[in-house]
Amino acid sequence: MSSLIQNPELRRSVLVTGGASGIGLASVHWFLDRGWNVVAADLNEQSGETLTSSVGSPANFRFIKTDVSQEDEIVAAVDCAVDSFGRLDCLVNNAGIGGAFGPVTEIETEDWDYTFEILVRGVFLGTKHGSRAMIRQGEGGSIVNTASVGGLRSGGAPQAYSAAKAAVIMFGQSSAAELATNRIRVNTVCPGVIATPLVGASAEQISDDLRGIQPWPDIGQPEDVAEVIGFLASDAARFITGAAIPVDGGLLAAGMRLDEAFGNNAGLRGLVGVNRGTTGGKSTVRRRIG
Ligand SMILES: NC(=O)c1ccc[n+]([C@@H]2O[C@H](COP(=O)([O-])OP(=O)(O)OC[C@H]3O[C@@H](n4cnc5c(N)ncnc54)[C@H](O)[C@@H]3O)[C@@H](O)[C@H]2O)c1
Repeated sequence: MSSLIQNPELRRSVLVTGGASGIGLASVHWFLDRGWNVVAADLNEQSGETLTSSVGSPANFRFIKTDVSQEDEIVAAVDCAVDSFGRLDCLVNNAGIGGAFGPVTEIETEDWDYTFEILVRGVFLGTKHGSRAMIRQGEGGSIVNTASVGGLRSGGAPQAYSAAKAAVIMFGQSSAAELATNRIRVNTVCPGVIATPLVGASAEQISDDLRGIQPWPDIGQPEDVAEVIGFLASDAARFITGAAIPVDGGLLAAGMRLDEAFGNNAGLRGLVGVNRGTTGGKSTVRRRIG
């Protein structure tokens, strides 16, 4: 049994990437509400400033501008948790963007690489340096990755995004098997459609789009995913590792007909480009050439 379980009063520390918006932001609040020390790491400094002023800069909170695809920046984010709070108990690898979309014949290679840099290399780098810190500490820990239902089945997201999220799920399983010996659990949440700025539509619009596609009558909220992330971080999940848990209102159960919900995928509508999400970076879209 880890000393964390023996000493539940110990104030734990978590690093949440993509912590300034959507699911990451809801997770930051989940942990702060329960007294954790929290480092929110995000590429978008403006969202980070908004977050910092909204939580009122308490002693148990730090924001650090981080690009998860850059190793030195991930190292700095992990160091921020360890230097500020003396420990790292949980890492939430959550930062994400929409990435490359369009017909496979036309996707720019640099847009494909960008998608994998953020969604896959970012999770690898987080796991590498987060687990190093946890191993040094010697008390175990929990790593939670945010993948997507798109990583479990096609028909719901662009190819690059789906392939990247499938890689996250498999990397999570492999690292769970490897890190269990260090009492580090690695789990993955697979959200369905969640009303966040990344989706960029109102709850009403999402509700209309998903009618007859998502069985559960309510629209997924970032807090619905944060609850599962928080559970996976906690000792209540102490025997769960290597899991990939859909949080999707039954989308997968009903066959995942998301392309239908969103009027077919962008590629089939002749659009090509890259979606840089809420990073502040410029997204592009053009008509296909061929
Ligand atoms: N919203 C959904 O429907 C949905 C569904 C499935 C999976 N997801 C996944 O959930 C995660 C969170 O997405 P969200 O919906 O909350 O989106 P969001 O856009 O609201 O938040 C994502 C955050 O990640 C940050 N980010 C992006 N690239 C980064 C980088 N290189 N380094 C550091 N931070 C970076 C953004 O600045 C933003 O603050 C993503 O991994 C996304 O793929 C979302």
